Parts: sequence; C-alpha cells; structure tokens
Amino acid sequence: MAELLRYEQVEISYRGRPAVRDVSFTLHEGEILGIVGESGSGKSTLIRAAMGLLGPSGAVTRGDILYRGRSLPTLTQEELRRINGPELGMIFQNAGASFCPVRTVGSQFYESAAAHGRVSRQDFTEHAVDLLEKIGFADGRRILNSYPFELSGGMQQRVGIAAAMLLKPSVLLADEPTSALDVFVQKQVVEEMLLLRKEFGTAIILVTHNIGVVGAMADHVLVLKDGGAVEFGRTQQVMNAPENAYTKKLMSAVPRLKKQRENRTDEGMIHAG
Ligand SMILES: Nc1ncnc2c1ncn2[C@@H]1O[C@H](COP(=O)(O)OP(=O)(O)OP(=O)(O)O)[C@@H](O)[C@H]1O
Ligand SMILES: [Mg+2]
Repeated sequence: MAELLRYEQVEISYRGRPAVRDVSFTLHEGEILGIVGESGSGKSTLIRAAMGLLGPSGAVTRGDILYRGRSLPTLTQEELRRINGPELGMIFQNAGASFCPVRTVGSQFYESAAAHGRVSRQDFTEHAVDLLEKIGFADGRRILNSYPFELSGGMQQRVGIAAAMLLKPSVLLADEPTSALDVFVQKQVVEEMLLLRKEFGTAIILVTHNIGVVGAMADHVLVLKDGGAVEFGRTQQVMNAPENAYTKKLMSAVPRLKKQRENRTDEGMIHAG
C-alpha cells in the first residue's frame, strides 16, 4: 500500500513554545490511526499542522510532515488550498463553527466540490443527499436547503462530517468527529468512515477520547501525553498489553474494554468510553 502521510520527528510550537515534540509515524493507504491522550496533550495541534491550520502563532519548528513525499510545511497557501479538501480532508472538533451562517448547507457543499473541479450539480446533490441520509438524517434534501443556524449542534457536526467525506479525501483527519453524537448516530458515522476506506482506500487519523471507537476502527494507536508520543503500536497490542504507565492508566479507565474485545460487537465497542 502506498505511503500517504509521514510525520518525521515533528515539533510544533505556538509562539516558540513547543506543544508537540518529536512525533513520528507513517500512514499508508487504507490505514486507520487512532490518536488518544488527555485534553491539551496536542492531538488537535498534531493533525491541524498537516493542513497548515495552526493559526498565526503556530508553526512546525522541527522535523517534517510529508504528504506523498511533499513537505507540507513548505507549501504556499495556494498549494495548500489545492490539497486541503480532496487530498487531506478535515472533520473539525467543532465542525458547526466552520460553516458560513448566511448560506445554505447545500450551496456551501457544492462550492467546495466545484472549487476542486468535481461533478455536475445534479450528481453532486444526489450523492450529498445519499450520504446525509446514511449518517442518520431522515431527509437529506431538507438539510441541504437549511441554513446552518437552523440545525442543532449534533446536526451541524454531522453536516461537517459529510462535508469532509463528500470530497473523498485520500486522508481523512477526524478530530473528535463523534463525541457530540448519540451512540446510534456514532455507529452510523463510524460505518460510513469504514465504507469510505473500503471503497476508496482512504486513510484515516481519528482523534478521540472514546477508546471504544479506537478499538473498533483503528489499526494503530498513538498515545500522546504533554505533546510527546508515549506509546505507538498495533491497536490490539496497545489496548491489551500497554507498555507505558500512562497508557495503562488510560486503558484501565475503560473497565469494560477487555470483555468487549473478547466478544467484539460494533454496538458494544461504541458504548465504551
Ligand atoms: N492557537 C493556539 N495558540 C497557543 N496555544 C495553543 C493554541 N492551540 C493550542 N494551544 C496549546 O497547545 C496545547 C495542545 O492543544 P491541543 O488543542 O492540540 O490539545 P488537544 O489534545 O487537542 O486537547 P482536547 O482533547 O481538549 O481537544 C495546549 O497546551 C494548548 O493550550
Ligand atoms: Mg483537540
């Protein structure tokens, strides 16, 4: 499988102060990496850096982030705009906030697709309605015709998930995509992400506090603490036999986990955490 994303000893700083230190991993086509760790450990920082979304005070200060061999931190804004969306897709931690309040969901969806030279409006609309209905909306067409402020927080989150997935990115960076959603909708979103991987070989980085979702989805897990990687390995290994003391503590905070991995059912996994 082709290598898509490579972090090489990456340090990321805000105003010169490191928030992430010496993190390395490689993501190949179709792989899912789970990133876990306490609040403030640097999870969002780590994935936002790939897309050049650290804000004016943030920068990659050591190492490199490579997408298909191209160094992302050295790209211009224009080059990043071409990659962000169809190549690197982001589901934001608070996806609702990234929508323009005065334009319908549908027109914003279509604009982002058209910017990257994709499909006709009609094909696009059908595809969007279909995806929205697969992630739990009864009437996808109504959602496309809605303004963001007409939707609840959880609905906006799902719209943000659909916006990223519609472009079928090579790498989907998902920052707590399902935390605001109830378990049934969580399950539908997880299934759609897995389908995207199966159909298009999409690689996924999934940031989450929900160890159950990591167990159900991820091939590898990276554990972050205070900006550093304290453990990295295959999901089974990290969850069942963690080596690091912090990872052990993190895993033991999910008491039902071991039993769930024994009788692994999707429903059960998603209830954890
Ligand atoms: N724009 C910013 N300017 C300055 N410091 C920042 C900025 N964004 C994040 N930080 C700092 O970087 C560190 C990591 O933050 P980050 O948002 O990456 O954590 P996180 O692991 O995603 O946390 P959470 O689970 O709460 O979302 C924190 O100390 C935070 O205060
Ligand atoms: Mg975060």
